[in-house]
Amino acid sequence: MTRHFLRDDDLSQAEQSAILDLAEQMKADRWGSKPLAGPQSVAVIFDKSSTRTRVSFHVGISDLGGSPLIISTANSQLGGKETPSDTARVLERMVSAIVWRTYGQAGLEEMAANTSVPVVNALSDDFHPCQLLADLLTIREHRGTLAGQTVAFIGDGASNMAQSYLLAGATAGMHVRVAAPAEFSPAAEVVADGERRAAETGGSVLVVTDPVAAVAGADVVVTDTWVSMGKEDEKQARLDTFNGYRVDDALMAHAADDAVFMHCLPADRGYEVTAEVIDGPRSIIWDEAENRLHAQKALLAWLLAANATTANATTANATTANASTATTATATTATATA
Ligand code: CP
Repeated sequence: MTRHFLRDDDLSQAEQSAILDLAEQMKADRWGSKPLAGPQSVAVIFDKSSTRTRVSFHVGISDLGGSPLIISTANSQLGGKETPSDTARVLERMVSAIVWRTYGQAGLEEMAANTSVPVVNALSDDFHPCQLLADLLTIREHRGTLAGQTVAFIGDGASNMAQSYLLAGATAGMHVRVAAPAEFSPAAEVVADGERRAAETGGSVLVVTDPVAAVAGADVVVTDTWVSMGKEDEKQARLDTFNGYRVDDALMAHAADDAVFMHCLPADRGYEVTAEVIDGPRSIIWDEAENRLHAQKALLAWLLAANATTANATTANATTANASTATTATATTATATA
């Protein structure tokens, strides 16, 4: 089975930790690892706009010795004229991995089900798992550990970032709190998946409507735009609904004394976060942005290695089975001859 990365809980706690270790090594020795030497190509497809994801995958694939192929669906057949499954079958003949920023999770699942190369979710409406690997790497760098840390996400609980925090944070053994208006709660299935994972790792998940309750004593405070891509027509209603969920100095005062602030960017200063917080001394957003590069390089290298191991094991099993069949056939022939 080809390993893909479509949502945060596609990785176990040990696998997530191994990727973060690899990212740390790659950050320390940026050009020391070339698993895409050849160069092998990686298709990076965008249905939505991007700065960090586009640049970090382009640069990261180049760093790994590979050739990035950046595709906009606006000028390709995917996105109207051709299905994800047909696109997947074509791409697997030419590239070593497929990275896709899209809308629905279902398209990613269809792509993954129809290709032998790893598919990576570069943001969907439901999850942003590459961003979470970068966030976890950044939290680990600044806090020294992940397990046992308390992270508070404030704002749109149904957003891809909030839902990814529930899954990735629980996988890491963190205590994840989400504060959101009741009508913007995370999906019940995602909360249940986070709870299941947290029960295995010693973490916890909590969804509340009160931002102060979520931030109280937290080690990490996170927010994201109130108007995610694709929600622009709801802008004014969202700004009104989320007005009590702004991260400002007064809210940060409820966090731990040494708490850090994170935002995946782009930010709307004055809405989900004030300039005094995002540009203040507790903000670690630039490390967070840089870590997209290191985390995604590690992810690609890990997926390629994991899938090579699976392919080798399959080949070895097939060889053993063939040898066994050949031995049986020889014995049968010998018996028949005798
Ligand atoms: N955080 C993030 O995904 O940024 P971009 O939309 O610029 O890629």
